[in-house]
Amino acid sequence: MISSLRQPSIAISGSDIVFGKRHATLIPPQSFLPSLVSEKSHRFVVSLKKPLHLACIGVGNFGSVKNFETEKSFEKGDLVKCGAYEADRSEVEDSGTPSAAAKKVKIGIYFATWWALNVVFNIYNKKVLNAYPYPWLTSTLSLACGSLMMLISWATRIAEAPKTDLEFWKTLFPVAVAHTIGHVAATVSMSKVAVSFTHIIKSGEPAFSVLVSRFILGETFPVPVYLSLLPIIGGCALAAVTELNFNMIGFMGAMISNLAFVFRNIFSKKGMKGKSVSGMNYYACLSILSLAILTPFAIAVEGPAVWAAGYQTAMAEIGPQFIWWVAAQSIFYHLYNQVSYMSLDEISPLTFSIGNTMKRISVIVSSIIIFHTPVQPVNALGAAIAIFGTFLYSQAKQ
Ligand code: 3PG
Repeated sequence: MISSLRQPSIAISGSDIVFGKRHATLIPPQSFLPSLVSEKSHRFVVSLKKPLHLACIGVGNFGSVKNFETEKSFEKGDLVKCGAYEADRSEVEDSGTPSAAAKKVKIGIYFATWWALNVVFNIYNKKVLNAYPYPWLTSTLSLACGSLMMLISWATRIAEAPKTDLEFWKTLFPVAVAHTIGHVAATVSMSKVAVSFTHIIKSGEPAFSVLVSRFILGETFPVPVYLSLLPIIGGCALAAVTELNFNMIGFMGAMISNLAFVFRNIFSKKGMKGKSVSGMNYYACLSILSLAILTPFAIAVEGPAVWAAGYQTAMAEIGPQFIWWVAAQSIFYHLYNQVSYMSLDEISPLTFSIGNTMKRISVIVSSIIIFHTPVQPVNALGAAIAIFGTFLYSQAKQ
């Protein structure tokens, strides 16, 4: 049985739950940096924002921790296993309580903010890349900006710093490698092709997810899920072959980004069980680690000499405004990702993927309008088929 819990800032030890002790202690003041606890602890901190599920396997009616005090007492031996893990959001969505409407409004606000921030990011990102085609540096700057923003937020206590241990960073590492590859690949793609084309190809991510799960993890899916891949793959292929400004690096960048983000999601899901860092702080830690991974590669691939020369050219062509574009793409990159991770705290992965598809539609349409991207009717048809396929996929997965 699985119970969900949203609660104030309290720390609960795993053993307290297993053995029925009923006390909670306040979290002591923390340093602004995520603390590194080298020894493994059996305590876990319940985050303010993270919905936490307590899974009881092998018992009858354990009840939710919210109602823990009123539950009938149970024997120690009744509990075979009790573990806490990052919420599978699908189970916290439909409460049917009076607060459900407020929650829907909150999720609506998250979605609108996420899409708006993403549209702004994509526009400034493309403007920067048009004037300064160094995607490895601009990717690094977006991560650096987000990391700096979060370090300042923790230092000034605007945001509560997460409590992390070495194990946390170890499990985060493969996630960060995949995030870094996916981020750089998408930026390289956008430096070579229209923003709309990158996002059309990126709408094929569910196909990568199913294929990786099927052929690498050995998972099987209902037949409708496989069938939904036909319009996704067919639509992307049609859009690619009819793209007026097709570029192989741009195409491959979007494909690699899709693959990397599928692995990021798999590692994320596997690695974060039992952790209770809020979505916002989880993304902050991911940015910091990705920045550390990416920086040496960015220097090796492009390097300061190329960057300096490119900067002179961009300043000569655009003027000081160019600096603001770089700042905007970096800040909005962090903000849209932060909001998307915060909304992941509230919704199921399925709802999230539908939201992500809607986001791509906003980006594709707005970027075509803003950059006057030439689109042939058959190209638009391919994009529409691919996006329709992602909706079929999300229905088939239900
Ligand atoms: C990036 O730079 O990381 C990509 O633009 C990410 O795109 P997505 O968040 O829309 O998948």
